[in-house]
Amino acid sequence: MAIVFITGSTDGLGRAAAQSLLDQGHRVVLHARSVDRAAALGELTSRGAGMVVGDLRSAAETKSIADQVNAIGRMDAIIHNAGVYTQRSRGSTPEGHASTLAINTLAPYMLTALIERPRRLIYLSSGLHRGGEGSLDDLDWNSRAWDSAKAYAESKLHVVALAFALARRWPNVLSNAVDPGWVRTKMGGASAPVDLDTGQRTQTWLAVSEDSAALVSGRYWHHLRQEEPADEATDPGFQEELIAKLGKLTGVELPRV
Ligand SMILES: NC(=O)c1ccc[n+]([C@@H]2O[C@H](COP(=O)([O-])OP(=O)(O)OC[C@H]3O[C@@H](n4cnc5c(N)ncnc54)[C@H](OP(=O)(O)O)[C@@H]3O)[C@@H](O)[C@H]2O)c1
Repeated sequence: MAIVFITGSTDGLGRAAAQSLLDQGHRVVLHARSVDRAAALGELTSRGAGMVVGDLRSAAETKSIADQVNAIGRMDAIIHNAGVYTQRSRGSTPEGHASTLAINTLAPYMLTALIERPRRLIYLSSGLHRGGEGSLDDLDWNSRAWDSAKAYAESKLHVVALAFALARRWPNVLSNAVDPGWVRTKMGGASAPVDLDTGQRTQTWLAVSEDSAALVSGRYWHHLRQEEPADEATDPGFQEELIAKLGKLTGVELPRV
């Protein structure tokens, strides 16, 4: 049985993934943005193998999340699930970053670099990542007029590129990205066509399955099938430029090997 850390497990797909893995007998380390939000975990808290608390908008709290996970021990898999959709404005995090960038891109990057390396990494992307091209010139939305949908698309392109870069850099880790489809959650809304159980299935399968089909790296998945992501995501030049910029913005270096 595996131990899996899931970011954003208080609601939606993260919570559904936690429930599914616990029901299969795996151990799950849960995550909530605050002690208040941790209360939403209810009975999952006692079933979990631990809980970590921290707001991913904040670099300091994100570093603390990494410390809390490392104190629990080495994870077999991490599902980088937490995310926000269209934010009304750029916002400004405690470090001055755009909120969407901080939560959807900088946090999974930092956690990847700072948490003891697991055997498997899964990043929640979206089919909308295909609209994220050309984001590296103004990654943090300092010079462009705010466009919430474009910011989301860019952040979801970043995590596919990160997943693919890690598949190249870290050959002993299985690193994949998942488009869960348009799912009925707080983010997806009530009219989304995909139910929660279907939406969580691919990422939990990638996290724990010993099926040879799941033991691959550097792939983009949708409902248990591989798809081709946007060209930029698979371009090592784009991946390395992205990682260099994320390193500068966060002050956290991603080990090359
Ligand atoms: N739903 C869809 O149709 C869809 C489609 C494509 C991709 N995705 C991706 O799937 C992932 C999960 O989406 P979802 O639909 O399950 O969203 P959701 O229902 O809104 O849940 C998001 C989770 O992330 C947490 N979170 C958000 N901001 C946070 C922060 N600053 N610090 C800590 N935790 C934070 C939330 O915590 P709270 O409970 O405290 O808010 C919640 O647990 C996201 O990465 C999303 O981009 C979703």
